[in-house]
Parts: sequence; structure tokens; C-alpha cells
Amino acid sequence: MFPRSAMHCPSLVTTSFLLPFCSLVSIAFAADPQTIPFSSKSYGPDGPWQAITIGVGTPSQSVDLLPGGSWSSDVLAPSVCVDAAACPIAKLAGFYDASASSTNVQIGQTGNIRGSSFESTGGGLPSLTGNADYMFETATLKVQNGVAGQPVDVNFSDFDMLVISEANETLPDGTTYPVQIGSLSLGCPQFNQSWTHFPPNPRFNGTFLPADLFAQGRVPSNSYGLHIGSAAMKIPGSLNIGGFDQGRTLGQVSSQVYVINHLPIDLLDIGIGVAEGGSPFNFTSKAGLLAAGNSTLSPSTSVFIETPLPYIYLPQSTCDAITQYLPVTYQAKYGLYFWDTDDANYQRIVSSPSFLSFTFRLNSDINLNFTINVPLALLNLTLTAPIIDTPTQYLPLRPAEGPSGKYVLGRAFLQAAFIGVNWQTASNDGPGAWFLAQAPGPNTQFQNQATTIQPSDGTIVGSAISWKDTWKGVWTVLPETGNNSTGGDTATTTTSGSSTSTSAPKSPVKKGISSGAIAGIAIGGVALISGCLLWAFFLYRRSRAAGKSEPGSPERIIQNPLTDFGDGSMRKMDGYGPRELGTGHEPQRPVEISGTVYKPRELDAGYIPQRPVEMAG
Ligand SMILES: *[C@@H]1O[C@H](CO)[C@@H](O)[C@H](O)[C@H]1NC(C)=O
Ligand SMILES: *[C@@H]1O[C@H](CO)[C@@H](O)[C@H](O)[C@H]1NC(C)=O
Ligand SMILES: *[C@@H]1O[C@H](CO)[C@@H](O)[C@H](O)[C@H]1NC(C)=O
Ligand SMILES: *[C@@H]1O[C@H](CO)[C@@H](O)[C@H](O)[C@H]1NC(C)=O
Ligand SMILES: *[C@@H]1O[C@H](CO)[C@@H](O)[C@H](O)[C@H]1NC(C)=O
Ligand SMILES: *[C@@H]1O[C@H](CO)[C@@H](O)[C@H](O)[C@H]1NC(C)=O
Ligand SMILES: *[C@@H]1O[C@H](CO)[C@@H](O)[C@H](O)[C@H]1NC(C)=O
Ligand SMILES: *[C@@H]1O[C@H](CO)[C@@H](O)[C@H](O)[C@H]1NC(C)=O
Ligand SMILES: *[C@@H]1O[C@H](CO)[C@@H](O)[C@H](O)[C@H]1NC(C)=O
Ligand SMILES: *[C@@H]1O[C@H](CO)[C@@H](O)[C@H](O)[C@H]1NC(C)=O
Repeated sequence: MFPRSAMHCPSLVTTSFLLPFCSLVSIAFAADPQTIPFSSKSYGPDGPWQAITIGVGTPSQSVDLLPGGSWSSDVLAPSVCVDAAACPIAKLAGFYDASASSTNVQIGQTGNIRGSSFESTGGGLPSLTGNADYMFETATLKVQNGVAGQPVDVNFSDFDMLVISEANETLPDGTTYPVQIGSLSLGCPQFNQSWTHFPPNPRFNGTFLPADLFAQGRVPSNSYGLHIGSAAMKIPGSLNIGGFDQGRTLGQVSSQVYVINHLPIDLLDIGIGVAEGGSPFNFTSKAGLLAAGNSTLSPSTSVFIETPLPYIYLPQSTCDAITQYLPVTYQAKYGLYFWDTDDANYQRIVSSPSFLSFTFRLNSDINLNFTINVPLALLNLTLTAPIIDTPTQYLPLRPAEGPSGKYVLGRAFLQAAFIGVNWQTASNDGPGAWFLAQAPGPNTQFQNQATTIQPSDGTIVGSAISWKDTWKGVWTVLPETGNNSTGGDTATTTTSGSSTSTSAPKSPVKKGISSGAIAGIAIGGVALISGCLLWAFFLYRRSRAAGKSEPGSPERIIQNPLTDFGDGSMRKMDGYGPRELGTGHEPQRPVEISGTVYKPRELDAGYIPQRPVEMAG
């Protein structure tokens, strides 16, 4: 009943005045958010990372996957491990054998991946190179209604998967090792991944976890809230569909728009701080590390937040600035830093209340920022086989761009951060928002009743829990020596991170012009720019659909949205093989892309320009 009503919305909402009606329909039939329990197992080879168990196929084959990423879930076929010795983790996490299932579906229109980078697949595991096929399956997942609820099995049909038959990760020195564990996709901007199966109809729809639960009427929206936690530091993972755990969102929650297969945000600075007590460094805090010795990174650098990637990928100059204070040694073979575990400072730093602070633009507002602190205790991760023979403590910092060509904050960062996405805030196939906030440490109440994300929610509200308190008793507070010498050189600030991230949102105090006026100008500016870009984009799409090129500036203006939207995933949406699509000559393309952010309807000036206002919360 509910899904049917909800799905009518897209066709009904041809003008913006119908939007409230759409929301009302959804609210009237609202279900509770559902919690997805984590598996008791965790996996490397660069973690440990916590996983979720899913059953795939008929009869059901149990596979552990790392939650996160968009579009298809990446699942390993047994053939990835022809050399069983190279697959210590894959053997434990499990495989999906398509030939042993009676419900496997494949369609030719999806194309496949042969000997190429997975970056072009739009989601999943972008650092892999190899072979994979799109397959659709019956899948089963345990979901739980709230803290007290009993886990129940929910079935999904045509669950959208990229089944990997052979794929390698490549180390910077060129050596390779086979993929060890797959990923559980948490949705995408489209409700379904839809292919033209028997042109023009019927279309074939691959389904995703949040959208399918929403379509089944089991959750209130096509959204999720995730904190992957830390197995080593005993922070259980938290995944809710249609909602989020407020105990995992501490302080200000930033809301911003996603692009087709990435979650971008502006990184303003990186610092080092100590939350309480004495400092294990010869300074109490350090700021300015992001752009230290490289002013091109100032005043901000756009980064992607990517759960499917393990490391924190930053420029060499930034990595140099950070690691000069840490007892680590760069290992060129791995493109990573190993902790000098024999150095007396290693133990002191990693067990102390010291952290790396990441300051981001808040709500895409040029005047606002917020900070996420990542305790160095969480950056004491372990490399294991098949990457390295002897388990080795490493700092998950890689001085390079991620596979997308952008700097990336991956899983290592997300141990300390909450992310969520509301895929469609306007209707079943409209654009949505994504969320980022400080996540807690081990000393907090887990398993809280989830808070609903409504279909129209462009923002969510965090809790007032003190981040510092969630690490009390876990880290070792160092005595204050009474010396407090500073590193001497760059700007030293007092308590840069801890207080900012835990306190309630504050508006910046500006002199000369009221902050309200500044906010108004900023919002107006953003709205104007967004409106122009989207309108230009709409014109462009329309002119393309009409088969002619629009002269003049609009095409130049839309350069950025096109770049963002136009990478590998564009091809994917077309439902053709990634290679063919590189040519981009299919005349039907604009028509084929159904229910996406590109729909002219979504670009209606009546709705879009207002979004930044909502975002400003
Ligand atoms: C993966 O690496 C192995 C060992 O280097 C190599 O034999 C194999 O061809 C690679 N597979 C792919 C798909 O690149
Ligand atoms: C889910 O699918 C399994 C077969 O894979 C079936 O036995 C079970 O009855 C289904 N459950 C529901 C609720 O449909
Ligand atoms: C797939 O979804 C589209 C709507 O996006 C619908 O028109 C079509 O009938 C669906 N296909 C199937 C096989 O249900
Ligand atoms: C999604 O796919 C399912 C299954 O094909 C279909 O019934 C449904 O109409 C599709 N929903 C949307 C919004 O496209
Ligand atoms: C400085 O930053 C730019 C990106 O803005 C990057 O391409 C370059 O590699 C950095 N330089 C160093 C030495 O890291
Ligand atoms: C670093 O991590 C390893 C593996 O989890 C752990 O055994 C060790 O105690 C940690 N070191 C410190 C100083 O906490
Ligand atoms: C303070 O620093 C000086 C040198 O910088 C050192 O000699 C002294 O022992 C330090 N005092 C304490 C209490 O750490
Ligand atoms: C040293 O710094 C701490 C804050 O980190 C401060 O509370 C303490 O008063 C300082 N001590 C001296 C002697 O400056
Ligand atoms: C602080 O420590 C760093 C190494 O950690 C050292 O290079 C630097 O000279 C020290 N500064 C002072 C003022 O002691
Ligand atoms: C963050 O905002 C505060 C308050 O407006 C400001 O003092 C600080 O410089 C900002 N930090 C960065 C890195 O922009």
C-alpha cells in the first residue's frame, strides 16, 4: 500500500506545489527505521573492519561484506581465489557461486568489466582492476526494528550486484594481491538501477538495500545512517536504514549535496590536538597542516568521503606536515607509513588523548566550519597477509590521490565519523543530501532507538553528547608537565578540535556586518549559483535531447556539474557496457536515463534553488 502510493509521487509531482502532498503521503504510512546488525567477525588486510552478513542466491549463500559505497554491491566469486594461499581473508568472508543458485539473473544490456579499473563502475571497490559481471539475485538480510526488536529475515529480489570473478589490488611498487572482501552498497541517487531490457519496454530494474526496504514499506525513506566503528577499539558498527542513531552523531551534522557516485565536501584544514591532560608532543596543538608548504590546498580542498576505500589519501605535502610529528616511517612499497613500535613515543601517542582534527565546510556555507577529530588510537591499524607476511601496525595515510583522481577520506577516517545519505528528498527519484558528523568513541551507549529520516529531510539533528567523554577511561591522559613548550614555528591554537566538535552549533561572530546578513548573502549567492548552474544544465540537456548544441556560455558554466556527473557512472546509468559508452554517441541516452537527477522536472527552478536554504538549517 505504502510503496505503491509513494511510487506514484514521481508521476504526480510535475510541479513543485505538489511536493507537500508527496511528503504527506509518505508520512501517513511511515514505518520505523530498521537496524542492520553487524556480523561478529571483522576483516583485514588493512583493518580490522567490521562486516555485515548477507545471504545471496537460492539456496542462500552466506557472505560477509563491508557496508558502504553506492550503486552495485561488489561480491566475490570463488574464482578470485584460484590461489587459496593468497586469499586468507576471502576464504573467511565467503563467496557467491552463481552456478549454485537457481535465482541468478543476468541481462546482456549491463555489459561487463574485463581487465579494467573498477573506478568506472560508479560504486563498489574503485581501487580494483579485473573482471566482473552484473548479476541480480534474491538476497536475504537480517533487519531489526529498534533496540528491542527481534532480527527478522527480509528478502530482496533482483538485488543489484557486481560479481567479481578475478580482481587485484595493486601496491605502489606494482605488486598485486587478490581482492579479499566485497562491499554492501547503501543505495544510489536513482531508486532502481534501470536498464532497457527489451527496448523500449519493459525495463529491467536492479534494486538496492535502502530503496527496496522503502519500496516494501518497511522503512520511512530511501536513506541510511552509518558509523562503521572500530573492531580494535571495540566500537560496534551502526547501520540504520530510513534513519540513524543520534548517539552516533555528536554535535553539528553537516548536510551537503552528493554527486552521482561520490560524497564530496570541502576540507579546510587538518590539525593535531590533545583532548585533555598533557601532550605527548612538544606542543599542545598544531593547525595549518593541510596546506603547510603547499598553498594550492588553501583555503579549501575538495575531498571525497569513501567507505569502500581503506586509507586517507592526501597530498604528499600534507602527509609530510602530519607525519613530521609522528614516530612513523614511510614505506614506498606500500605507499603507507609504518609505526615505529619500538619508539617510546609510539605507545605514548597512540594511547593518549591525541587526535588528528579535520575541519570541513559546514552545510556548504563559506562562512561556517565544523571539525571531526580522529584519535590516533584509531589510526593504529594492522596490515596483514596477503599485503604483508608479518602483521604490522601502520598509519593509514597514503600520499596520493584516490582512484577517482581526488583526495579521499576512506574507512580509516570513518571510524571516527558518521555518514548518512537521504537519497531522494523531493520524490522517489529526486536529488537528495548527505550528512557528516563526529562519531563517538568506545565509552558510550550503543544500540539506541533510531531516529527517523523523513523522505523530505535535507538535514538531520545530532546529539549533545560530549565527544571527549566517549573516550574517557579508554585513552591514557598524560600528566601536565608545566612546560607546555610549543613546536615553535607555525600557528598554535588552543584546543582546536575537541571543544568545537562537541559544543552546540555556534554562529560565527563577525564585526561590521551582522552574521544574519552574511548568512543571507551566502545563501542567496549559493542559491543563485546553484540555480544558474542547474538551469544551464537543464538547457544543455534539453538542447542535447533536441540534437543541437547550445551556443554561448551555458555550456561553459555547466562544466563542473558535467564533470562531476559525467565520469564512469554516467555510462552505468545508460545500461550499456562501460567501454561502449565512452563513445557517448547513443542518441537515445537522454531518454534512457529515467528517474535521475537529470530529469528536467527536478531542475525546475521552483524547487532546486530553494535547496541551499533548507541546507543552511
Ligand atoms: C592479478 O595478479 C596476478 C598476479 O600478479 C596476475 O597473474 C593476474 O593476471 C592479475 N589479474 C588481473 C585481472 O589483473
Ligand atoms: C525469503 O526467501 C527464502 C528463500 O530464499 C524463503 O524460504 C523465505 O520464505 C522467504 N521469506 C519471505 C518472508 O518471503
Ligand atoms: C522497472 O521500473 C520502471 C519504473 O522505473 C517500470 O516502468 C518498469 O515496469 C519496471 N520493470 C519491471 C520489470 O518491473
Ligand atoms: C523499481 O523496480 C521495481 C522492480 O522492478 C519496480 O516494481 C518499481 O516500480 C521500480 N520503482 C521505481 C521508482 O522505479
Ligand atoms: C600540492 O597540492 C597539489 C594539489 O593542490 C598537489 O597536486 C601537489 O602534489 C601538492 N604538492 C606536494 C609536494 O604534495
Ligand atoms: C595498536 O594496535 C594493536 C592491534 O590492535 C594493539 O595490539 C596495540 O596494543 C595497539 N597499540 C597501542 C599503543 O594501543
Ligand atoms: C621542561 O623543559 C625543559 C627543557 O625544555 C626540561 O629541561 C625540563 O625537564 C622540562 N620540565 C618538565 C617538568 O618536564
Ligand atoms: C599547560 O597546558 C594546559 C592545557 O593543555 C594548561 O591547562 C596548563 O595550565 C598549562 N600549564 C602551564 C604551566 O602553562
Ligand atoms: C619538537 O619535536 C620535533 C620532533 O617531534 C622536533 O623536530 C622539534 O625540534 C621539537 N621542537 C622543540 C621546540 O623542541
Ligand atoms: C572555523 O570557524 C571559526 C569561527 O568562525 C574560525 O575562527 C576558524 O578560523 C575557522 N577555521 C577554519 C579552518 O576555517
